[in-house]
Amino acid sequence: MDHFNYKNGELHAEDVPLSRIAAEVGTPVYVYSSATLARHFNVFQQALEWAPEHLICYALKANSNIAVLKLLGDLGAGMDVVSIGEYARARAAGVPGARIVFSGVGKTREEMKLALEGGIRQFNVESEPELRALSEVASGMGAVAPIAIRVNPDVDAKTHEKIATGKSDNKFGIPIARAREVYAEAAKLPGIEVIGIDMHIGSQLTDLDPYRQAYAKMADLTRALRDDGHDIRRLDMGGGLGIPYKRDNNAPPLPIEYGQVIREAVGDLGCEIEIEPGRNIAGNAGVLLSKVIYLKEGEGRNFLILDAAMNDLIRPAMYGAHHDIVPAIEPAPGADVSAFDVVGPVCESGDTFQKGTQLPSPDPDDLIVFRSAGAYGAVMSSEYNSRPLIPEVLVDRDRFAVIRPRPTLAEMISREALPDWL
Ligand code: LLP
Repeated sequence: MDHFNYKNGELHAEDVPLSRIAAEVGTPVYVYSSATLARHFNVFQQALEWAPEHLICYALKANSNIAVLKLLGDLGAGMDVVSIGEYARARAAGVPGARIVFSGVGKTREEMKLALEGGIRQFNVESEPELRALSEVASGMGAVAPIAIRVNPDVDAKTHEKIATGKSDNKFGIPIARAREVYAEAAKLPGIEVIGIDMHIGSQLTDLDPYRQAYAKMADLTRALRDDGHDIRRLDMGGGLGIPYKRDNNAPPLPIEYGQVIREAVGDLGCEIEIEPGRNIAGNAGVLLSKVIYLKEGEGRNFLILDAAMNDLIRPAMYGAHHDIVPAIEPAPGADVSAFDVVGPVCESGDTFQKGTQLPSPDPDDLIVFRSAGAYGAVMSSEYNSRPLIPEVLVDRDRFAVIRPRPTLAEMISREALPDWL
């Protein structure tokens, strides 16, 4: 459920008509709903209510605007970061290091050092070279790094191949068959404290079975490692629960059902539970608001050319992803619709959001909305074709604020420099 609904014939974010944001901030623009972000976070809290100790570590790769992080942090969220840049954002949003988990396959020594200095809840270690590097960095500082080892359970997450991470041919984690050996090494290393196990099998999962398979393996591994003498007291179950991108009846399982799958698999182990949802919290809490520039008649097809492009929202071009595209003005019941190929101004055919979209004959300057764009939207945008990064707006009931302004052309260019020989 989200808070983007038609009211008085116009699509609103909570109590703010999107047309008002377009008029005041311009388009294209990302618009997020505070109430939806909070609701999704609270739904996960309920899903894990059974676990006396748990922490929802929002995966901020999905949407890392510091206003979004502050809102979630104030509700008690922890953060899952994958770079020191994300760590800095979480800290800038007021989240203490004790609630920040550091994931990722390629942490540098510099990143490890900065996170240890700033305070960190746990490193999710993904390889033996990383484990040894962390041991050297931490012991060199006279510090102890709390770790979970990310274990790759070799489970097919049944999602898009670019975002599946739990198969043995993916770059992530340590093969489960070798986990005991690696934990044994970790236990002996200076500057390392083993506290748990981590898994993350992929993103946009629409079926709970892969989780069941992976978490059963995690439960077995917890018992085996305890038998080996390790004090396994925290389980990081990863993120990845999918969201409905289409308003049909095929919605993925709900967080509450997902919480029960975790409970059934590991609920009797007495461990603290962590999860790392990103998309499920931010995805349907945001839309991309754009404007029609031209309608162009092609050979047997009509193109709707928008002011938003693949550089602003790359998911359709990159993954063939679907985002519902709707007009900001509610179509009259039974209004005539025609098919359009919805495209942006970028100079490649890949800049096509959707083909054959049914829309009630739009006019230039009409507002067009991409739903479910709050996750992996703004964070994946670029300035390709020298299109400045688009602004982000946060709505809270009847008020809104620009939480990332649109840079001017001069600002965009001024980040570059001419060498002194030119
Ligand atoms: N934890 C780890 C270790 C991850 O790698 C990810 C996502 C998450 C948590 C959060 O997963 P989520 O709950 O958001 O599914 N750009 C792609 C998605 C990439 C996901 C990468 N890892 C997309 O637009 O679909």
